[in-house]
Amino acid sequence: MIRPIALIGDPVLLQMAREVTSEELPTPEIQAVIDDMISTLKSTTGVGLAAPQISESLRIVIVDKPLTILVNPVVTPLTTTTDTSIEGCLSVPGVTGQVRRHQTVRVEALSRKGKPIDMVWTAFRAIVVQHEVDHLNGILYVERADFTDIPPPPRPEAQKRLQPVIGSSGKKTFVIDSEKPVGGARHATFRFDLPGRIVGLRIQPGGALITRASLSGMSLKKKGYPAGTAEQMILGSEGLVVSPGDELRIDLRMPSGKRRLVAEVDVNPLTT
Ligand code: NI
Repeated sequence: MIRPIALIGDPVLLQMAREVTSEELPTPEIQAVIDDMISTLKSTTGVGLAAPQISESLRIVIVDKPLTILVNPVVTPLTTTTDTSIEGCLSVPGVTGQVRRHQTVRVEALSRKGKPIDMVWTAFRAIVVQHEVDHLNGILYVERADFTDIPPPPRPEAQKRLQPVIGSSGKKTFVIDSEKPVGGARHATFRFDLPGRIVGLRIQPGGALITRASLSGMSLKKKGYPAGTAEQMILGSEGLVVSPGDELRIDLRMPSGKRRLVAEVDVNPLTT
């Protein structure tokens, strides 16, 4: 059952959630809470959900892609290195902010069947699980976020390079420029320094053909997104989740005699 999401201002989001006992974990009531969390998350654009967000003050979180259910999670930082990324939250609609989190964490928890889980997560999943465990402790990311220090967009001269950096959200436009007219096979690489999801990719001028697209070496075809045989690639409403450090490579066939290609990449911020 899809449940309403508790929004900022709701006292349930400020409470310390209680642990689930091993006796109650297999009960239909707790299993139903987990099922409801999955259905509710799937109905949103989010990639993580904590039980308090569906008004259940229990220590259960789910992290998507791939879907992982964590009961009574304990997250321990394994490095002092931290990463800054742009976060959003289903309980705080319409807002994003910059948050610093540990890069690598150990995640200990129980599965929904009560089996022990002990994993090391880095980058994107590490960020999401730290955000979700904060929810269990009554902390919203907005308390940790810096809303003023959003990195500036790349300067125009920086956009001329073949390796532009994609920022937080919205439509990003990159100009792939050449000194003299060129045609034929070309490629461009976009490096992501923030988590997000790509929902579409379009190359201009018309006539350019995307022949292959890959994310950090894995063909998007293998990830279930049809590789473009056209000048645009729509990645569906779910989009393609990218983590900091990921590289999107687009191989394309450029119309001859063109000096300039414009790649438009639609990126939505990560919402958890
Ligand atoms: Ni959240």
